[in-house]
Amino acid sequence: MHAIVITQPGGPEVLSWQEVPDPVPGPGEVLIDIVASAVNRADVLQRQGLYNPPPGATQVPGLECSGVIAAVGEGVDGLRVGDEVCALLAGGGYAEKVVVPWQQVMPVPKGVPLVEAAALPEVTCTVWSMVFMAARLRRGETLLVHGGASGIGTMAIQLAKAFGAHTVVTVGSAEKAERCLALGADEVINYREEDFAEKVKADVILDIIGGKYLPRNVDALNIGGRLIIIGLQGGTRGELHIGKLLTKRASIHAAGLRGRPVEEKGAIVRSVVENVWPLVESGAVQPVIYARVPIDQAAWAHQMLESGGHVGKILLAR
Ligand SMILES: NC(=O)c1ccc[n+]([C@@H]2O[C@H](COP(=O)([O-])OP(=O)(O)OC[C@H]3O[C@@H](n4cnc5c(N)ncnc54)[C@H](OP(=O)(O)O)[C@@H]3O)[C@@H](O)[C@H]2O)c1
Repeated sequence: MHAIVITQPGGPEVLSWQEVPDPVPGPGEVLIDIVASAVNRADVLQRQGLYNPPPGATQVPGLECSGVIAAVGEGVDGLRVGDEVCALLAGGGYAEKVVVPWQQVMPVPKGVPLVEAAALPEVTCTVWSMVFMAARLRRGETLLVHGGASGIGTMAIQLAKAFGAHTVVTVGSAEKAERCLALGADEVINYREEDFAEKVKADVILDIIGGKYLPRNVDALNIGGRLIIIGLQGGTRGELHIGKLLTKRASIHAAGLRGRPVEEKGAIVRSVVENVWPLVESGAVQPVIYARVPIDQAAWAHQMLESGGHVGKILLAR
């Protein structure tokens, strides 16, 4: 098969579409003929040599895909050759084929084209597991989402709205603000012009900045607030005022999805299919797709992501 190989750490130009050995499904795994994948910010870090795949995972980038099951390994029940699926991957999505544990495979929500389903696994599993399973966002609470126009942000806005939360997002431009409001955000803060900590008190904060925002995120928490850090675009270190956290009886949780054991990912995937797929099938939540790039031109897709003009997901389609 062909796959994108990272020839050496570097810029988008190190992504090369090459012939590599076909993956073979082992016990408990399925082989998917990939129809589409999608770009995540983590793929850029991996390309730059700053984010290694977890032990045992392929070096081929790509954390999600949609496609058709081509083979099933021993001990896989309920999935058959020919099924149209999408999947949460530990890697390997930028390719013609991928093997994945059956627990990380999901049906394509009814009404969603197979290609577009590739935009769903990473953002739905991340937002659902962090905001709803970990932070237990409740109806009527306020959610602050940093980077509202990101792949993650566009899903967080829609899910929070569907579950009756008040959503405030930060963005870096007026155009992105418009898009977030259209997706259902209740308030938008342009972080280049205003300090979010002076504008909002939130019960849950979904943060992708990390160190640089830590003090102000704590300031922006309500009593009993939960700060969930999933990205470190503003660095890994920040100063924490423990006194403020204590007074607010607040908590901070930082977590990644990619390195978790298969059983844990499987539990998240099942919960997403149970709780999020009905919303996708009703049209209340939709994949937000900015562009569709041929998979062998992943370098172009990375340039697009890094230039920062996108809203939502960039698909890699075959
Ligand atoms: N922990 C996990 O398991 C997990 C899973 C998926 C994603 N993530 C993380 O979530 C983040 C988003 O991922 P993605 O793939 O959706 O990326 P993406 O679409 O490239 O989005 C990155 C976003 O960061 C925003 N941003 C940059 N500087 C900002 C600032 N100072 N304040 C607020 N927003 C800022 C940009 O918005 P503007 O142009 O408006 O500035 C952009 O929308 C990444 O950090 C990624 O690593 C973590």
